[in-house]
Amino acid sequence: MTTTTSLSVRDLRVRYGGVTAVDGVNLDLPRGAVVALIGSNGAGKTSVMNAVMNLAGDSSGTRVFNGNDISKMRTDQIVGLGMALVPEGRRLFPYMTVAENLTMGAYLRRDSAAIQRDRDRVLEVFPALREKLNQPAMSLSGGQQQMVAIGRALMSSPRLLLLDEPTIGLAPAVVDLIGTTIRAINRDGVDVLLVEQNASVALDLASYAYVIDDGNVVMQGSSETLKHDNRVQAAYLGL
Ligand SMILES: Nc1ncnc2c1ncn2[C@@H]1O[C@H](COP(=O)(O)OP(=O)(O)O)[C@@H](O)[C@H]1O
Ligand SMILES: [Mg+2]
Repeated sequence: MTTTTSLSVRDLRVRYGGVTAVDGVNLDLPRGAVVALIGSNGAGKTSVMNAVMNLAGDSSGTRVFNGNDISKMRTDQIVGLGMALVPEGRRLFPYMTVAENLTMGAYLRRDSAAIQRDRDRVLEVFPALREKLNQPAMSLSGGQQQMVAIGRALMSSPRLLLLDEPTIGLAPAVVDLIGTTIRAINRDGVDVLLVEQNASVALDLASYAYVIDDGNVVMQGSSETLKHDNRVQAAYLGL
């Protein structure tokens, strides 16, 4: 495995009891890239992401992150190596303030000066959060809560950010803002694996994408190629 690869997944399988949710997925994320997983509800996208962080049911297969075999590591060890997840549905601490939610993202770090710099950077990226810092997370709009979830993940100073449906349920203007932010985060040197049911958002942001259906990769290619593929257009782009 060369160090030009951020994440490499081989023969990933995830089971929940007797149900196979992911049935032998392979994927690669080159350093510097935004790569997307698209597919319908129930296809197995969340299971892939959670398994990469060892959060999902019963998983097998090999996951290598920046040259480290993380297949059997605990989630906190994987976070310590520089991977962060923005989970589906955000999973904020609803009664904690925005500031406290952000601080939780840095729980493994001891470098307080750098933590402060990352917090400043989050508030630069999401200025709307500045005046909400002392409010409970649950009092924010859906879009602002998504900003907190992304900000919290950035507070662990990740090299790879996993985003699970970051735009679902958000108004078009907020979707655009989240998209712009994901681009900015990637330009700052963070690799991105993006899960989206909204294939048009995903193919705009990512350079390469995998189409997941029923626990398998059924198609993969550059976003340009997939955007012009008749099957992708019919099944995922509503064209
Ligand atoms: N905790 C769970 N227990 C049992 N089945 C699950 C669980 N999580 C997901 N599944 C099943 O696994 C399949 C894939 O789900 P998921 O990974 O959430 O797909 P997606 O994120 O693409 O919507 C679905 O059939 C879903 O019902
Ligand atoms: Mg999902």
